[in-house]
Amino acid sequence: MPCDKKLPADELQRAANELRDDWHTGRAVDFEEAVAFHESLPKSKRFAPVLESADTPLLQPRAGVPCLEAQIDLLRYLQNEGGADLLPTTIDSYTRDNQYEKAEEGLAASRNSDSDELNGFPAVNHGVEDCRRLVRALDAPIEVRHGTPDARLLAMVTLAGGFQSFEGGPISYNIPYTKRHDLATTIEHWQFVDRLCGAYTERGVTINREPFGPLTGTLVPPCIAIAVMLVEGQLAATQGVRSVTLGYGQVGNLVQDVAALRALRKLGEQYLPDSVTVTTVFHEWMGGFPPDEARANGVISLGGATAAVAKPDKVITKSAQEFQGVPTKEANAAGLRTTKQLIDMMIEQDIDLGGIDDEQRLIERATMALIEAIEHAGDGDVARGVIEAFDSGEMDVPFAPSDAAAGAVLPARDDDGRVRIFNFADLALPDDIKEIHKAKLGERAQTEGRDQSFRMVADDVDAISDGKLIGRPSGYRGGVSDAD
Ligand code: 5AD
Repeated sequence: MPCDKKLPADELQRAANELRDDWHTGRAVDFEEAVAFHESLPKSKRFAPVLESADTPLLQPRAGVPCLEAQIDLLRYLQNEGGADLLPTTIDSYTRDNQYEKAEEGLAASRNSDSDELNGFPAVNHGVEDCRRLVRALDAPIEVRHGTPDARLLAMVTLAGGFQSFEGGPISYNIPYTKRHDLATTIEHWQFVDRLCGAYTERGVTINREPFGPLTGTLVPPCIAIAVMLVEGQLAATQGVRSVTLGYGQVGNLVQDVAALRALRKLGEQYLPDSVTVTTVFHEWMGGFPPDEARANGVISLGGATAAVAKPDKVITKSAQEFQGVPTKEANAAGLRTTKQLIDMMIEQDIDLGGIDDEQRLIERATMALIEAIEHAGDGDVARGVIEAFDSGEMDVPFAPSDAAAGAVLPARDDDGRVRIFNFADLALPDDIKEIHKAKLGERAQTEGRDQSFRMVADDVDAISDGKLIGRPSGYRGGVSDAD
């Protein structure tokens, strides 16, 4: 079982040597020469300094197509026409699954036709030199965004290729993404990734790491998401990472989202070592989107408004075409501009919302209870604690497909649309916090004249795509009583 200890240099070297043979491009990775390439980049392409010195939230989309020239054109468009401050390269699903052979076929098929036969950029297949062509061609820093449980070779190739930020983590790229990977293995794999980032960092090339905050993207209670962020930040810090961006996905209640982002930043700064620079990223709604693009723009706008109040360091934007899958470049750029309009109009307003402080305290207390349970389960070792706590269900993520989590916790919205917990299962929260959640959901049940049940949870999962925040029963007349 892995411990939260720094990986020794010889183990990093040994694992890197073995990985080189997983795909031929691995053999072109040369750490010393890669450090020199990073040193040749202008300051404007250095991810951590650009993000950490920004004074308003920076905007970043998701984007990935199979071929290099098309990826360059796409990112140029998002940079120039969308005003993206930070660029992504979204990796295809075969690569996420370490199926480089299949990615190669998809890449070849895409080169020979007008259609994209992969849903992202297969960076391992492209190799170090093509990644550098991409980095050279754009003005803004670029991050690797993916969803890969075993991202070791992807990290070796892309970091050597000049990328300076790498998304994911052992829990956040396991529990929501895969069924079959166990946590002990993904923790070991991500210790390698983090140690590699640490090795670059020690040579003066700071690599930013971004744990994936939204998790399953569906009504995740803020305390669960934040606890995962803190643990992944800690594991990364142990391996020498010094720039960590903690994430959080919009739930749609303005007060709860602002409170959660404040709690995320505060606990991140408190919990992670002083040597780590903590930044935050807010993801626009990750759940189901309305098919109607006009309504989808409403969801995106609420995200922009939330960001203007909460002021995270970065916002990951969505497009109005979210419902149909990967957006066109025009729709993707429009999502950036819609978000920017909201932020630019609202950021200088002094907006005083009631209830943020109380909600923030509740989130912080619940998060710290989960963190304490993890530390206790691991006898003070956070790596072991995560494995034990997920095994016992003291830590859990709703709607998790992974066998490594119980997936027994169920969320539902309260009368105000804030995400509460309907079924705690074995989640390690103290009784007084559970009582608050129960009371809030009880109020909603009364309002709707129905029992709390799984029906409520299911209604909430569909609510935003159906054009509402709260999944009220059909026939519910929104606060208008029969007496009126
Ligand atoms: N380009 C743009 N967006 C992508 N997403 C996934 N792959 C790509 C891609 N290649 C987006 C989805 C969804 C999120 C999980 O990632 O549209 O918003």
